[in-house]
Amino acid sequence: MDGITEDALYHFEKVDIRDREAVRRLFETYDVTEVVHFAAESHVDRSITEPEVFLTTNVLGTQVLLDAAMWHWKLDAKNKHSRHYREGVCFVHVSTDEVYGSLGAEGFFTETSPIAPNSPYAASKASSDLLVRAYYETYGLPVKTTRCSNNYGPYQFPEKLIPLMIHNCLAGKSLPVYGDGQQIRDWLHVNDHCEAIDLVRQRGRFGDVYNIGGHNEKTNLALVKLILQKLDRPETLIQFVQDRPGHDRRYAIDASKMAREFDWTPRYSFEKGMEETIDWYLRHPEWVERIVSGAYQSYYEAMYSSVE
Ligand code: TYD
Repeated sequence: MDGITEDALYHFEKVDIRDREAVRRLFETYDVTEVVHFAAESHVDRSITEPEVFLTTNVLGTQVLLDAAMWHWKLDAKNKHSRHYREGVCFVHVSTDEVYGSLGAEGFFTETSPIAPNSPYAASKASSDLLVRAYYETYGLPVKTTRCSNNYGPYQFPEKLIPLMIHNCLAGKSLPVYGDGQQIRDWLHVNDHCEAIDLVRQRGRFGDVYNIGGHNEKTNLALVKLILQKLDRPETLIQFVQDRPGHDRRYAIDASKMAREFDWTPRYSFEKGMEETIDWYLRHPEWVERIVSGAYQSYYEAMYSSVE
């Protein structure tokens, strides 16, 4: 990542989150006091064809991390009330609005909306949220959970809508829009998301959930047309393809708790965020190429066999 690797406090370790021993070793090596848990399989389409990897990574992997924190911070059910056994420890669990399921034309997800996941991905994240909650209630592990809307920005893996469409545009390929393209997503720039997570880390209440959204609802079709327009490509590149099974119609986050408690609102306008994002992909073709020429290639072929 730009600028981070030179920081003396930064260490990169590639470890499988399901590997109990390796994760414990990390806690010990670095005397970890705070965890911000982003690690997850996150692509809905992959979860439809390979649900198992989502369950093992997202659910069991979360449990491995929770256990490692419990172990390293010396917490157990008996000292549930000694939450401050060790000052400054904190476990932030990064989740998604998809745990709430799908909305109709009206309304927003709040932190108290019922959990009603519709894809194996969403079900795996909902399960991990419940585990995190249970570790708070049972063992007093100091946890905080965030649930965000759809992220976009630089370095996003090209399986997701925005980078996939930008890449296909640049490669002169068709843009595969699922179903009628009228599904709605609420887009949040990754920098706004990170800023919000950091506020929760510093100031959030243990045991609480915080919704983080962009107040930026767009239909998929409108978004794809915007990308075409910015890249000066014709709308004839759009190809409507078979809909995703169990496709959620609309997500929209009520982020008023973040505004009320931390005075947080997103800084990026969608216009500025998209311009910067497209520009980033234009300036980093080698980053995208490295991914799309590897294992991603066979995923794309299996997933989009009908796309020209
Ligand atoms: P995605 O980026 O996979 O995020 P999520 O499923 O978490 O919302 O997809 C965003 C929306 O775009 C979703 O409604 C599915 C749709 N979509 C397409 O129409 N075509 C595509 O090729 C992809 C990847 C997504």
